[in-house]
Amino acid sequence: MVNWRSSSHHRGSAKSKFRFKASPVSVTVYTLLLFALSIIIFIFHSREILEEEQNPFFLEKSESEKISDDQLWGASFSYGFHPCVVPTRAHKEAQGWDHYITVRSNGGLNQMRTGISDMVAVAHMMNATLVVPQLDKRSFWRDSSAFSDLFDEDHFITTLRGDVRIVKELPKELENVPRARKHFTSWSGLNYYEEMTRLWKDYKVIHVAKSDSRLANNNLPVDIQRLRCRALYYALRFSPPIENLGKKLVERLRSRGGRYIALHLRYEKDMLSFTGCTYGLTDVEAEELRIMRENMNHWKMKKINSTEQRQGGFCPLTPEEVGIFLQALGYPSSTLIYIAAGEIYGGSNHISELRSRFPNLIFKEMVATPEELKSFAEHASQTAALDYIISVESDVFIPSYSGNMARSVEGHRRFLGHRKTITPDRKGLVEIFDKIERGELKEGSLISSIIKQMHRNRQGAPRKREGSLPGMKGRGRLRTEESFYANPFPECICSSKTHS
Ligand SMILES: *[C@@H]1O[C@H](CO)[C@@H](O)[C@H](O)[C@H]1NC(C)=O
Ligand SMILES: *[C@@H]1O[C@H](CO)[C@@H](O)[C@H](O)[C@H]1NC(C)=O
Repeated sequence: MVNWRSSSHHRGSAKSKFRFKASPVSVTVYTLLLFALSIIIFIFHSREILEEEQNPFFLEKSESEKISDDQLWGASFSYGFHPCVVPTRAHKEAQGWDHYITVRSNGGLNQMRTGISDMVAVAHMMNATLVVPQLDKRSFWRDSSAFSDLFDEDHFITTLRGDVRIVKELPKELENVPRARKHFTSWSGLNYYEEMTRLWKDYKVIHVAKSDSRLANNNLPVDIQRLRCRALYYALRFSPPIENLGKKLVERLRSRGGRYIALHLRYEKDMLSFTGCTYGLTDVEAEELRIMRENMNHWKMKKINSTEQRQGGFCPLTPEEVGIFLQALGYPSSTLIYIAAGEIYGGSNHISELRSRFPNLIFKEMVATPEELKSFAEHASQTAALDYIISVESDVFIPSYSGNMARSVEGHRRFLGHRKTITPDRKGLVEIFDKIERGELKEGSLISSIIKQMHRNRQGAPRKREGSLPGMKGRGRLRTEESFYANPFPECICSSKTHS
């Protein structure tokens, strides 16, 4: 890129010097001279090209540098695609001045964010006024943040003004009227919610007890899908303290090394316990995770065979596996890696297995002062919001496991111009890791090329959202569809040709 620019610049200046020298001679002589000169220049130039081509060292070096730099950091995917969230003419305005929906959103930060965006769409479909949702204070993360601690409440209300009427609180006179309490069926579509408007005959307020996955990924009108995007990517901005610190941390990371990978290292206690993945852990650690799982009432799976989990690709990559993976992809050991995660299980013990390959690991405590992080302590959702901002802004995002955060960040990066997101093929990788462990394969160029090949089409390039897994029938099918928020293409991402 840089080379190309500087060479074209040289060419330009050479041309202008030449024009300056041309003095008024007869037109024929001038033309002949010009012709001869251009032949000379051409011969000279092509010899130079030839020399370059014949010099294998020159060619190899520049080619490999260019290719690898592009492969590692390149984000040229966005060409020809842009966000499109403007409503069509058929989009109806905010309605429902006398019907209200209250929501208790559930889950961690990203589950709540996508759930709230869905509730915006639901309120719109049901002609209702949305009361600013309550956040989950009882989830695993036990965060007491209110909506306005986490999000910019006024911005949320005004951004969506034309779509949905949103109020901070129920009007006083409705506080004590009986509400319809609903668990909306998961993955529901427009017909379902239109049907639900019959509740307005008997109630002025509907209370929604759960906000996650209440709305289908597909087969919704394009205006509903775009409303979801407006809600998530524009309206649900984090509160100013979070946005400001997030931006500062991104700047500090950039000032350290320019480019960085954000690694969502989901090697946290809850995840390992929930998935039953004990590979690489000590017996004591494995037992601790088993007991934790035993005690979690709402985790249904108690007996888990860790080996089978891992071979099926259902385990988060371990820090060591991430190290092997990144090295195989060709990232140099000097690469700056921001660890977007809560507390890594086993702390420095396990993280050292990654640090030995990539010493430039950055945790948020290294880019933020204790003073800055003070108000974030005890607020897992607010801390997760910092990680979210840093991950969306990173040059490369790599989630070591799938989940709400991984999906949300991936989708947001697609929306903003298909920024590079590398999704590890965990099943394929584990096969290779096991072969290395058994001594059947050695780390090196062969493994590197296998792993690169395996991930050629897993880097966040533009593509349509995937439908359900083949062979699935009934409502179970809906669960296996790719999440709308992991890839809002085609509804909210358009190619320049479509002009929508
Ligand atoms: C919402 O309100 C509009 C305009 O009053 C009306 O045409 C439409 O049928 C309503 N939709 C539902 C689902 O009640
Ligand atoms: C777990 O599964 C593996 C592979 O299927 C099997 O070899 C192993 O015996 C199982 N372990 C236990 C404790 O059941």
